[in-house]
Order: sequence, then structure tokens, then C-alpha cells
Amino acid sequence: MNDFQQTPFSLHGIGLGAATSATQIEGGEATHSWTDWCEGGYIHDRSHTRRAGRHLLHVNEDADLLQNLGLSFYRMGLEWSRIEPEEGHFDEEIIAAYRAEIEELTSRGVRPLITLHHFTNPCWFEKKGAFLQKENVPVFLRFCERMVHDLGDIVSDFCTINEPNVYATNGYFFGSWPPGQKSIRNTMRVLRNLADAHRECYLMIHRVRKELGKEDTMVGFANHLRVFVPKNKKNPLDRMGVWALENAFQTVQTDAFMRGILRFPLGFSHRHAGKYYDYIGINYYTRSAVSRFADGFFSDKEQNDLGWEIYPEGLRFLAEEQYRRYQAPVWITENGMADNTSVTEEGIIEDNRRCAFLCNHLRELSLSKADVARYYHWSLLDNFEWLEGESARFGLVHIDFETDKRTPKKSADLYRDFAKHGGLTEEMIQTYHL
Ligand code: BGC
Repeated sequence: MNDFQQTPFSLHGIGLGAATSATQIEGGEATHSWTDWCEGGYIHDRSHTRRAGRHLLHVNEDADLLQNLGLSFYRMGLEWSRIEPEEGHFDEEIIAAYRAEIEELTSRGVRPLITLHHFTNPCWFEKKGAFLQKENVPVFLRFCERMVHDLGDIVSDFCTINEPNVYATNGYFFGSWPPGQKSIRNTMRVLRNLADAHRECYLMIHRVRKELGKEDTMVGFANHLRVFVPKNKKNPLDRMGVWALENAFQTVQTDAFMRGILRFPLGFSHRHAGKYYDYIGINYYTRSAVSRFADGFFSDKEQNDLGWEIYPEGLRFLAEEQYRRYQAPVWITENGMADNTSVTEEGIIEDNRRCAFLCNHLRELSLSKADVARYYHWSLLDNFEWLEGESARFGLVHIDFETDKRTPKKSADLYRDFAKHGGLTEEMIQTYHL
């Protein structure tokens, strides 16, 4: 199950939470870029976002799950396409339902972190060219401002945009996600516009929260970061590939978002130089072994169900590296693995690989010299995993997608004990056979 015997460690006060996104768990009818993609037949198992665990029918039950796990933090999304189904028309009832959900969470001692954009756009926004068009940035900001205005008295923590590099490269460079384009130029345009959107959104959230008489505002974005290494250290092309991918995919865009500075290949400008983050948000999953200029994985290393290498050391490395550069509290806004261990006849889910994953990643964080304040496990629930649909399971809690039944996995129990004891104890090692 685990390649080494675990030993106890303390989390040194790192707060524990879980993350989800609206599109991936809510279910129900919505008209966004991914409903189009589902209907276009692009999802490998032909599943559809309209199911996705139907969180909308289980809001209180899911809040109970968080409470029972003893988690202090929950990162959740708002479904823009349901809130603003037509351009400029906001659905008051849906906003009120989100407000009620946030109040439920807060009353259970769970502090929400709200994500404003997580990969999906309303169809009407997509039709207008989404973030490819500079003129659309204010349209997104209007939605965000409305959300902060309506929810900002009960929410202090915001995540503007989830993984802009993944959104831009999958949608505009590889063409595997909506809108299915393959253009380097457009990828860069989208990233520049997203950086503008983030910057403006950062300033707006602080302004509106101040108007609401609130001071303790925390704004950032969830940055997808990887560790890049050459597949063959001796090959200069592999080493150059590492430099190129790291720069284009990560370093330059991170500076554009965090500091408002544009460098090649994004552009050249210091016009908006400043500080646009209150925390450093890191989504971490894997390391890339670069061969020439292509992304790859070491095939002899442990992988998750999607073939991504499991490399816990990378989490500590990135937390420390980003902390050195940007000097703010580090929030691991996502970290987790696809592990399809299924339910036994006794109704037990022994996801031992996820248990080992949790111990190994949390141990690395506990050793880190960075100021790591929060860790959000991805994900609370099995969910709609984009192109993989329902077939890749990332949840601490298993979902039977036919019946909506929620069953906490062994990893959920282990995570609850992590939260309770503030680390890994000898007793936990015995109980979970780690
Ligand atoms: C995304 C999530 C996704 C997870 C696992 C992250 O890139 O933010 O939406 O489910 O990775 O693939």
C-alpha cells in the first residue's frame, strides 16, 4: 500500500480543507461551455455535467460531510451560467441559494473560499469570444462585482480564476477543451486578458469589501504549478525544453497575474506593475519529465489512475519556491489524486493509495520552510472530471452517480483524524495500517 512505514509528524497549524468546483459537482440544467462539450460527444465515458453527483439536491448533506470531517475550510465555486443565464440578467433566487449555502457552511464552522471562474463560461459569453476578446473582460468583472456585492458581507476569501494556464492551453493551444482552438497567438491573448481580469478583479474585491465595511479580505488565484525536470539530464534539448515549458507555462504567467508584469512570450509591459495577491494559491498534482519540448512522465514511477506521476516532494519544492518569490501565506488550493478504488460488498472503500498520498504530501508540507497556512484537498466528492467525465475519482467521499449516495472513503476517515490531531499520530498509523 505504502512504499515505506509512516512515522508521526505535526502539521504545525496548517489549516485543513477540501475543494470542489460548481460545474463538477452541482448537476442540473445549465448552459455553459462544457454542456456544449458534453453534447458534442467529447467526454470519454459520455457522461454529462447535468448529473455530476447532483450536489444541488444535497447541499446540506454535503455541508454535514465537511463538518463531520472536522474541516475548517472549503473552496467552492459559483456557476456563472446559472447566476447570469442571459447577459446582464441575474437570477436572484440562485444567488439567494448560494447565500444560504454559505451561511450553512459558516454555521458549521467551515470558512468558504469562493472561486469566481473555474474553466466554464455561460454559452452567451463563449459565443462572444470569452476571454479571447479584451472587450469581454468587463463583462466578467460585472458578474464578479455583483457576486462580491451580494455575498461579500459573509465571505472574505476569494479565488478569482482557477488555473488560467490550464484553461488557456487546453482550450486554445491543444484544442482539447472548449472552444477547441489550436493557436499559440490566441493562447497568449487569452492569458493576457485573464491576467487583466484577475488584476481588475483583485482591486474590485478589495474596493467593494471596503464599501461593505469589511477589512479582512483575502484574494488570489489558483495557479496550476508543476515541477519540470529533463527526462534525460544529459540531453541539452531536454534541458532547454524544461526552461522553455517552465517559462511559458508557469513563470511568466505567474508574474503577469501576481505582479502585473508582462514578459515574453506574453508581452512586454510594466504599466500595471503592482501586487495583486494576498495569498499564494497553488494547485499541485504532478511533475513533468520533459523530452525535447514535450511534456511527459517517468514511466517507472508511481502514477495515479490517469498516469500522472505521484511526486510528493514537488509540493514542498513549489511551496518554498513560490514563497521565496512572492512572500505571502501559501494556500494549497488543490492537491489530490485519481484513485478508482471502488466500494466493497460491505460498503467499505479502502483507498489505500489516496491514504498514502495524503500522508506523503502533508508530510512534505509540514517540513516546508514556507509559511503554509492552508491545504485544500481535491476533492471533497467524486465529481465530473472534465474530459474523463465520471470515470476518474478524486473524492474523499465516494459518489454513486446513479443513486447520488455519498460514502466516505477510508481516506476521509484518515483526513478527519489529521484535522483532529493536527498531524499524523502513532495511533493513526496503527488504525489505518500506514
Ligand atoms: C482542476 C480541477 C480538476 C483537477 C484534477 C485541476 O486542474 O482545477 O478542476 O478536477 O485538476 O484534474
